[in-house]
Amino acid sequence: MTVTTGTETGGENGGRTGVPKVHVIGWPIEHSRSPLIHGHWLQHYNLPGTYTKKAVAPDEFERFIRSFGAAGIAGANVTVPFKEQAFRLADHADAAARAIEAANTLWLQDGELHASNTDGYGFLANLDAGAPGWSAGERPVAVLGAGGAARGVLQALLSRGITSIRLTNRTRQRAEVLADYFGAALSVTDWEIRNEELADCGLVINTTSLGMEGCPPLDVDLSRLPDNAVVTDLVYAPLKTELLKAAAARGHVIVDGLGMLLHQAVPGFEKWFGVRPEVTPELRALVVSDLEAPAC
Ligand code: ATR
Repeated sequence: MTVTTGTETGGENGGRTGVPKVHVIGWPIEHSRSPLIHGHWLQHYNLPGTYTKKAVAPDEFERFIRSFGAAGIAGANVTVPFKEQAFRLADHADAAARAIEAANTLWLQDGELHASNTDGYGFLANLDAGAPGWSAGERPVAVLGAGGAARGVLQALLSRGITSIRLTNRTRQRAEVLADYFGAALSVTDWEIRNEELADCGLVINTTSLGMEGCPPLDVDLSRLPDNAVVTDLVYAPLKTELLKAAAARGHVIVDGLGMLLHQAVPGFEKWFGVRPEVTPELRALVVSDLEAPAC
């Protein structure tokens, strides 16, 4: 693999002609909201192109992404469980993908497969939009969770010059792996003392799946958190998690996780379809109504 520079994708379409055909690939993939987001933009900007779900079995993934050229596929979003494999298989990866060794956005350019990871971009764009001017200042940032989602968040925080991150995870060893990987700004604290560790933090981020519909609740006591700290949750179903409700009740600025999903889609859309789309209240309302729609 060779390396490309820049963390965001450009606007060209790699010299392709015709109607761009793009997929979101996962296993399973039924619940992805990405087609709703990209479909809205295609319609809004009146662009030719398609963006559809594609369930690909794990043993078919490599063959599928290598068939892009022959199948006339311009690129794809990649979700669980393929992000690491997508990074490894791409011919070129940009700095954002290399930083966390995982890709969520692929595009074919001059016959070669390029990869990026837009999760960190989406995280920061959402925080910037939801808590304008946010800054942890000199204070530590508390990150709960050390799974795949935490990686993009940690990289994004470091890219903004955050110098102190307290990482806590039920399985301490996973947090230690990330601390070794990302370096001296990270310190690992025990999950059991997560409440005490919030005492002087400027920003709290839940990257665990706790609090998501169908998952156990996130048990965190915010009473020690400084009043002007910002609280954000990557979970967006429900939109207002118990963590965010508790934070709002204490007067903290809160940022829900839906905006990250919306913003992370921007660079890929621009790459495939040639227009940098806007995350608007209208788009957000569309996805919120889909989240609220009965499953059956
Ligand atoms: P993702 O890619 O969404 O981050 P993941 O890699 O499976 O998914 O990570 C899920 C995160 O939620 C992890 O931090 C996980 O903690 P462990 O590493 O200890 O598994 C956390 N998590 C999930 N269920 C949890 C629970 N019941 N209690 C505490 N943490 C939990």
